[in-house]
Amino acid sequence: MMSSLAIQMQGVTKIFKGKKAVDNLDLKIERGSVTALLGPNGAGKTTIISMMLGLMNPTSGNIRLLGGDPRTRAIRGRIGAMLQDTSVIDNLKVGETINLFRSYYTQPLALEQLLLLSGLKEEQGIMASALSGGQQRRLGFALAMAGNPEILFLDEPTVGMDVRSRILFWDTVEGMASRGKTVLLTTHHLEEADQVAGRIVVVQQGQCIADGTPSSIKALASGRTISFTVGEEVTEEQLQGVPGISGIEWKGRRARLYSSDTDLLMRTLIEYSIPMQDIEIQSGGLNEAFQRLLQQDYKGIM
Ligand SMILES: Nc1ncnc2c1ncn2[C@@H]1O[C@H](COP(=O)(O)OP(=O)(O)OP(=O)(O)O)[C@@H](O)[C@H]1O
Ligand SMILES: [Mg+2]
Repeated sequence: MMSSLAIQMQGVTKIFKGKKAVDNLDLKIERGSVTALLGPNGAGKTTIISMMLGLMNPTSGNIRLLGGDPRTRAIRGRIGAMLQDTSVIDNLKVGETINLFRSYYTQPLALEQLLLLSGLKEEQGIMASALSGGQQRRLGFALAMAGNPEILFLDEPTVGMDVRSRILFWDTVEGMASRGKTVLLTTHHLEEADQVAGRIVVVQQGQCIADGTPSSIKALASGRTISFTVGEEVTEEQLQGVPGISGIEWKGRRARLYSSDTDLLMRTLIEYSIPMQDIEIQSGGLNEAFQRLLQQDYKGIM
């Protein structure tokens, strides 16, 4: 049976010279989804992607792509990647570079289509080394797409792209997702992840510290929570029926609710006659660096 999972990581750890870059990570990515790995510099995003691509072996743990081993030719032929550090091949024109990559695959996309997808139609005859930084990123995208991959890995793809290129780029990625492709991308920007991804996995020090829909991650990033103690008569299901809650954590009979608007949520809880004792409204709940990382971007989208 075909696995519904595009990517599966189980207990994956990567240690560099005694330092853990990825720490016992479990991650399952569904086919046809767009997932963003979000995290600060050094969080482990590129290391995670390199291991998924089979470019680097994990110190321990297991990785499957499309149900197979990422280091095999059969699986490699079905994936495409736009890496963080890419360099162009000297003395090749844009069109020639794309054709070279097309030749690695049994069923490549047409050159014309790749030029269109990457917005490089007018540049096809110039030397790849003469492209601007942002154009080189777009060439990287064309190369990643050359084999018409089932899974596309994008490591900080929009760095160096201007606003217009970014918008076009994300439109293209969205179009691919709607055609059943799986996309895994990394970014530092919550707003970008929010625009394009259906799921955001927040990585810090090689661990997943939050995983959910963009709206739940935004609520976490806003850092506001309401905590209170309830009696046995209040059930988890009852709280889940209250609108405006993006996450619930329990410690014994004490519930902590995450919300992007705690004032409104408080009024709603009272309306729903939830009997709350020892109510506290606090900011924070996730660790501080995550707060700092995300709050900066968060201001931008409000
Ligand atoms: N080849 C390597 N040798 C030694 N240490 C490495 C190597 N590659 C990565 N690291 C370390 O592993 C950690 C994770 O790095 P990684 O590049 O995966 O982070 P990242 O989340 O991609 O960061 P950025 O947002 O800056 O791209 C860092 O502490 C980094 O210094
Ligand atoms: Mg990186």
